[in-house]
Amino acid sequence: MVGLYFSGTGNSKYCLERFLQEFEESAMFSIEDDKAIEQIKSHTQIIIAYPVQYSNIPKILRDFIMEHSDLWKGKDIFIIATMGLFSGDGAGLLARLLKKQGAHCIGGLHVKMPDSIADEKALKRSSKKNKSLILAAEKKVVQAAHDFQNGRPTQDGIGFLSHLAGLFGQRLYFYTLTQHYSSKLKINSSQCIGCGRCVQLCPMKNIELDHAKAIAKDQCTMCYRCINQCPMQAITLLGKKVVTQYDIHHYL
Ligand SMILES: Cc1cc2nc3c(=O)[nH]c(=O)nc-3n(C[C@H](O)[C@H](O)[C@H](O)COP(=O)(O)O)c2cc1C
Ligand code: SF4
Ligand code: SF4
Repeated sequence: MVGLYFSGTGNSKYCLERFLQEFEESAMFSIEDDKAIEQIKSHTQIIIAYPVQYSNIPKILRDFIMEHSDLWKGKDIFIIATMGLFSGDGAGLLARLLKKQGAHCIGGLHVKMPDSIADEKALKRSSKKNKSLILAAEKKVVQAAHDFQNGRPTQDGIGFLSHLAGLFGQRLYFYTLTQHYSSKLKINSSQCIGCGRCVQLCPMKNIELDHAKAIAKDQCTMCYRCINQCPMQAITLLGKKVVTQYDIHHYL
């Protein structure tokens, strides 16, 4: 069994790691890792974890799946979708995409985790609440791993009703936001100290340094990694100001 993930701020990576810990032989790779493709080729059972964006799949993950569309035929796939609140059919959405490439979906798991959107006040929870969310998530993930081992993989987000909930609950209204990479990332040059952290972290190579100031291009996959990690809170995307930066490692 092999795990594959995309994770902007660590939630999806954590849930996959915790799931796989319950199995004796497993390894996991980010889609950003060059070794991922060889690993997918050599395994039949694959657990994929990703963060829901507007009840949709982040563009970087969709592109990875389609650019390697020959990889999925005959694979048995279980999907872990992490979310701040609601996705409807996070797991089902990816299951349908992979099914079109010839994969078979074994099941899905939806896990509620702290919200990664650092610049929207309405979405932020207290650290106490975040901590209890992560504890509850861990329990749910471990239970799902045991259900999987017992031949009863969870089916979160897979059925037709979930499909309708995802589509009409959110995806339809925000559809355009995830169809293209975003050009909306803003970097406040008077706050930026040119440390280069965002340049190193970005999975899209969407940021570069120019005269010791970070400059954003137009290929942002909205993962919120740089926004949560900038030491000067100089980066925003959906909001105007960073409210609270989130790092799962503070809670583990
Ligand atoms: C651009 C964006 C859109 C999001 N949309 C949703 C959403 O539609 N529903 C939801 O419950 N959470 C949403 N979230 C929250 C993330 O899915 C959630 O925090 C996830 O666990 C982050 O995982 P990661 O740390 O692996 O990136 C969104 C986050 C971002 C950055
Ligand atoms: S991480 Fe922040 S301070 Fe460092 S280069 Fe990027 S924007 Fe500037
Ligand atoms: S610019 Fe920031 S938010 Fe956008 S893809 Fe890169 S790291 Fe993620």
